[in-house]
Amino acid sequence: MRQPAVETLPASLYRDASVYETERREIFARTWQLLAHESQLPRPGDYLATNFAGYPIVAVRGEDGTVRAFHNVCRHRAGPLVEDGTGHCAGAFVCRYHAWKYALDGRLASARDFGPAEGFDPRQFALFPLKCEIWRGFVFVNMDTDSAPLESAIAPLENRMRHIAAERFQNARASGHEMRCNWKAYVENYLEGYHIPVLHPMLNSTIAADYGVEVEPPAQFYRATPKNDAPIAGLWAWTWPCLGINVYADGILMERIWPLSVDRTRLDYLFLFTEDADEAEIERQIAASLVTTKEDLDICEAVQRNLDAGIYQSGRLSPKHEQGVAWFQKQVLRAIG
Ligand code: FES
Ligand SMILES: [Fe+2]
Repeated sequence: MRQPAVETLPASLYRDASVYETERREIFARTWQLLAHESQLPRPGDYLATNFAGYPIVAVRGEDGTVRAFHNVCRHRAGPLVEDGTGHCAGAFVCRYHAWKYALDGRLASARDFGPAEGFDPRQFALFPLKCEIWRGFVFVNMDTDSAPLESAIAPLENRMRHIAAERFQNARASGHEMRCNWKAYVENYLEGYHIPVLHPMLNSTIAADYGVEVEPPAQFYRATPKNDAPIAGLWAWTWPCLGINVYADGILMERIWPLSVDRTRLDYLFLFTEDADEAEIERQIAASLVTTKEDLDICEAVQRNLDAGIYQSGRLSPKHEQGVAWFQKQVLRAIG
């Protein structure tokens, strides 16, 4: 059956700073985001701080063992509590500016040497909380404290991963790649296999030519039959708005596609492997995915330069290969109004 070739998003959506501001507010401040793996925060007081679409975030394991997340923003005069990265704080966050002290559950424990003051109730100055939930060892956060539980966002993935004992994957390795393109350009590249035979000769040699996409909102699943024992075997998926998931026989790779600004994006890889995974095999898998990543990254940066050039306004999507991209673009438009 012939299906319509829908129009792509206009180029302006990839380079307009006001569009990015709307996306920050309407997409990124309202969706569940993968922040870390539990094994990165083993002890009470261990924290992980990062910046997501311009929002400073810190997750910390409390004295009670619970992982909580806050904005990394002091309620006094907006100082940062901790520097980005992982670290340990003994029992409290102490702001780096004037040393206000916050318990690990976010309460303001003391406003150092504030002096007598009227109309200042420390109980009203707890850290700004985020929703924080753990799914199969992965720490997810949502800035919208009224959002639906993580379960609803992750349901299609959970269904497909039911048979996979993801808890076996513990050793986390992270790596990051910065790219000069809008986040949507990289996500869209992730959502179609149309380019694989052209752009990825190495990856293409490991899969049969039956690549397909299944859209199961808010997730998508990719089908590609591996040749022999190619490492792609397992599950290959993505979920709205910017998380890729690759499950292998003895490991899992989470790909987080986080915007830094309208024209810069960071791709964060979080690899997890079983305790007894073969080191050489891990290196081989990482090296192979980095070859593919480099090819994707280069083409997305080139696409962005062309979107910026002002020649192209919009194109058409293949109903056969790009229905995942079409769903994503529709979702973006719906979110930003
Ligand atoms: S800004 Fe944090 S203590 Fe002043
Ligand atoms: Fe690719």
